Amino acid sequence: MNLSPFKLERYFADYEFNTEFLLCSSDCEAMSIADLLALEPGSSDLFQQTWLGYTESQGHPGLRKEISKIYASIQPEEVLVHSGAEEAIFLFMLATLKENDHIIVHAPHYQSLSEVAKGMGCYISPWRAREENKWALDLDELSHLMRSSTKAIVINTPHNPTGYLMSRADFEAVNKFVQDNKLLLFSDEVYRESEYDPAMRLSAACDFGEHAVSLGVTSKTYGLAGLRVGWIATKNKKVYEPIASLKDYTTICNSAPSEFLAEVALRNRHKLINRNLSIIKQNLGVIDELFTRYASFFAWVRPTAGSIGFPKLLKGDIEDFCNDLVKKAGVLLLPGSMYDDSRNHFRIGLGRKNLPQAVERLEAYLKRS
Ligand SMILES: Cc1ncc(COP(=O)(O)O)c(C=O)c1O
Repeated sequence: MNLSPFKLERYFADYEFNTEFLLCSSDCEAMSIADLLALEPGSSDLFQQTWLGYTESQGHPGLRKEISKIYASIQPEEVLVHSGAEEAIFLFMLATLKENDHIIVHAPHYQSLSEVAKGMGCYISPWRAREENKWALDLDELSHLMRSSTKAIVINTPHNPTGYLMSRADFEAVNKFVQDNKLLLFSDEVYRESEYDPAMRLSAACDFGEHAVSLGVTSKTYGLAGLRVGWIATKNKKVYEPIASLKDYTTICNSAPSEFLAEVALRNRHKLINRNLSIIKQNLGVIDELFTRYASFFAWVRPTAGSIGFPKLLKGDIEDFCNDLVKKAGVLLLPGSMYDDSRNHFRIGLGRKNLPQAVERLEAYLKRS
């Protein structure tokens, strides 16, 4: 396999731990182990007793049970826990695709959603979100992208980087298309449950039937990236089993302390969701005001879910802007080129508590330049 560098992760590697303000993070504000355990009386003592042996490869049964509750019809044995969503993406691609297969991938996208398949010698067709349509996907395009070698469609909603939430009608149509054409649907739902209007939440793809695999993680909506706990949920045993078997070659099983903490977190996930959505909504207000004051600099399609958005810089070059901003003001934005975007977009993160201070710094920089 020939994997190209993961552009976004390499960019973060340069800045994440030496820059004062990360204004482009995709995860929500994290918390300490003590704060997490305080959500559930008695859990602190139990945590101390966590056994540090190997755990069940599919994931601890208690954790799988909590994960299954996120879905309408998924059973604990249909959940496979991984080390982050990233491991699950890697193993799904490895288990279900082979050289010369073709997949269709929602674009722009988190790089591994296409890169792993590309590295295996598969062909990738991007299915492009259109800014002029508020980042919606055009369903008519899907049938034109189909080939006889198409094996899977990969979508991500709520979407990284645009914060676009697919309509219920479109999501149902994608599921039907995949079923009618006997494909697999890999549905990256790592930002699910962070819809600004919960009434707009989509059913998870895995609840539609065996054609689908839903991807989840504790990192984004729940703000616990350091746990490195992700999962897939699927009713499809022919997909589940080869992935479970490949996991013996990557991590074998998950970290026991992380599994304990993830189970506590998911049992209390509504508290985490409320906390994180309230941070996002306050931050959205700050960004709305900034973009109103600087309407000649920035334009965006306001996100409808999740902790990120994809505004456009209207003056100058976005790479130069981001480089200069981080150097002179200590504020990190992520240029759209990390997503192969050539239209001057950048990613902004809405989930961190210090966003108002980061925006003050950004504004001071804008006034100076
Ligand atoms: C759409 C999407 N999928 C998967 C991942 C990977 O999640 P994790 O880093 O928690 O494994 C990310 C992380 O940014 C993401 O944005």
